[in-house]
Amino acid sequence: MNLKTSWKNQIWPLRVLRAWLGVTWIYAGWDKASDPGFLTSGSPTFIGTQLSAYATSSPVGFAINKMLEHSTQIGIFVMLTEFAIGAATLLWIAPTWAALGGFGMSLSLWLASSWHVKPYFLASDSAYTILWLSYFLFLYGSRRKNKVSLDRRGFLRVSTVAAIAVAGAGVGKLFPKATSANTSAASPGRKSTSKKIIKDAAFKVGAIQTFVAKNGTPAVLFRTKTGVFAYSAVCTHEGCTVQFNSASKHLQCGCHGAVFDPFKGAKVLSGPANSPLAKIKIATEGAWIVEA
Ligand code: FES
Repeated sequence: MNLKTSWKNQIWPLRVLRAWLGVTWIYAGWDKASDPGFLTSGSPTFIGTQLSAYATSSPVGFAINKMLEHSTQIGIFVMLTEFAIGAATLLWIAPTWAALGGFGMSLSLWLASSWHVKPYFLASDSAYTILWLSYFLFLYGSRRKNKVSLDRRGFLRVSTVAAIAVAGAGVGKLFPKATSANTSAASPGRKSTSKKIIKDAAFKVGAIQTFVAKNGTPAVLFRTKTGVFAYSAVCTHEGCTVQFNSASKHLQCGCHGAVFDPFKGAKVLSGPANSPLAKIKIATEGAWIVEA
């Protein structure tokens, strides 16, 4: 079936669904491609930072933690796959596989990033999971008409989708969107809320406390004779979680071996990370040490 016939043969509700899903998936790929921080280690929107935040609240956090050391590759894969699924859906190229891919990706995002959203229907990933599943089941039921044979023509059509995905990602990089330097910065006119970490009296000099920061990522709190301070535990290389080594008194990353000195501004002692761990603003409010 060619492109024109594929649209003509579909009933209106399916055309609307197909157009919405295809356009949205292309936009999702574009949003990542045009975000200068998405593949930049240490950026608030870096894919590794996002995955690290997902791991703290997801039921599949153990699997996400294992993926963290390959964050950049995962980010590139997700971006290209979103472009490819959107283009394949709109252009009627392997549409059943594209719908299955859209379902799998939405389900993964639901489990990873929005599982904790309550009530569940406020998470758009849950709605997209069902929309893609419904569309896939419809296409699967009429798959004989949609079959893409692996002949020369079929290969060319699938290659077209791959080329569109790569071109979309490349063009997105040429039009970077403006991003805020710090996503946790308070919005004008909006009161920033602090987050309790531990009772001041219970946190003695020399103590260390891990906690989940306001942006959902893991963090570490220290108290020395000079005061209380905290750093993000998200490694500035690929986003794995650093751990405190009580023997060396350093924060170490188990993925590729980066070492940071928490008592000297979390500066890098050995690579492959290039930048220090992000500092977290700490304050004391009443009896509590809080993230400001
Ligand atoms: S993620 Fe590579 S050294 Fe930490």
